[in-house]
Amino acid sequence: MVLDTPVSTDTAGIGRFCRQYLQLESDLDYPPPVHLRDARVQDILYRRIFADGALPYPPPRRYQLRVLKELVSRVESSIEDWDLYGVSEDLMAALSHLLAFPLPSEAVAVQQKSYVTYSLPALDQSNNLDSPPAQITLLEFRHLISAAGTTGLRTWEAALHLGKFLCANPSFIRGRRILELGAGTGYLSILCAKFLAPTLAIASDGSDDVVANLPENFFLNGLQESGLIREMDVKWGHALVGTEDEHWNGGRPIDTVLGADVTYDKSVIPSLIGTMEELVGMFPKVTILIAATERSRQTFDVFLGVCEERRLNVEDIGPKIPRRQDQEGPFYNDHVPIRICRITKSVEL
Ligand SMILES: C[S@@+](CC[C@H](N)C(=O)[O-])C[C@H]1O[C@@H](n2cnc3c(N)ncnc32)[C@H](O)[C@@H]1O
Repeated sequence: MVLDTPVSTDTAGIGRFCRQYLQLESDLDYPPPVHLRDARVQDILYRRIFADGALPYPPPRRYQLRVLKELVSRVESSIEDWDLYGVSEDLMAALSHLLAFPLPSEAVAVQQKSYVTYSLPALDQSNNLDSPPAQITLLEFRHLISAAGTTGLRTWEAALHLGKFLCANPSFIRGRRILELGAGTGYLSILCAKFLAPTLAIASDGSDDVVANLPENFFLNGLQESGLIREMDVKWGHALVGTEDEHWNGGRPIDTVLGADVTYDKSVIPSLIGTMEELVGMFPKVTILIAATERSRQTFDVFLGVCEERRLNVEDIGPKIPRRQDQEGPFYNDHVPIRICRITKSVEL
């Protein structure tokens, strides 16, 4: 049945649902029943995310199947009068297609890499409906906390929160040379290079596997030929100067250093801070911004203690994490605090 009232993808919750789906969220906000039974809403959902070829980098089939099954069941429950409403044939055909496809076991699936697409609606130009949505797509080991000796093969919430902060405060990035420490999947460096116009963003990490994976994520975001981003091996605590060159990074300065979720392990905090000190020594005007997930107050206190010993000032500058229902994308946990801090050299009196 086609209704006369226009359907807005925002009020129907379609945009939010699609953004959560692309980010492989486990708890999705399905559109409410009054919209779900509307044939036009089902058609938009089909064309946006379930039609063959709708997405260049679709979620894993197991996830597609779980979400589509739940969606169809919610559409069915939303219908009181089957003479007026029904379930879209396209959605039913997509569901049958997925059901017919052999899926890997749960145990195998968690070991596989998945495409994850993060949406940044705050960067979308509301007056230009033709421009593609601001998104970052990454290939990640979504379900593994740690693999191949690194925690950097998936994106952590601190990176999403710091990215949101940088989108709201682009002057930290625009026209600047950026070095990201412990870059992992490269989310922040990619965000900078794709949307925030740095002079250069260097995504660095100490894990060989992580550094080797970065070019693929640059490629997924159309940055493979870009002069705005590159990867680099930087191991905290290993001297920067005197390793590859007499002048680190060919003598080119760094203006902003970023680090997301790099303070999680007490044992590596002194090396991390050693690298920050060396950077401040080489580039006295550098701005260091870190996003620290406070899983344990004790670990963060170790970080603060070592900074104090080395005469580095730590100042909280970030906003609180928005409540989950107020997040438009990217989506992240609103229960564990994440602090955004600026680190500067203390002035000797
Ligand atoms: C929790 S992950 C955070 C990744 C990314 N910043 C994010 O928020 O998604 C920590 C990252 O720090 C890197 N790392 C850990 N110890 C390191 C060290 N000693 N030197 C350089 N990088 C290191 C890991 O390889 C990993 O990529």
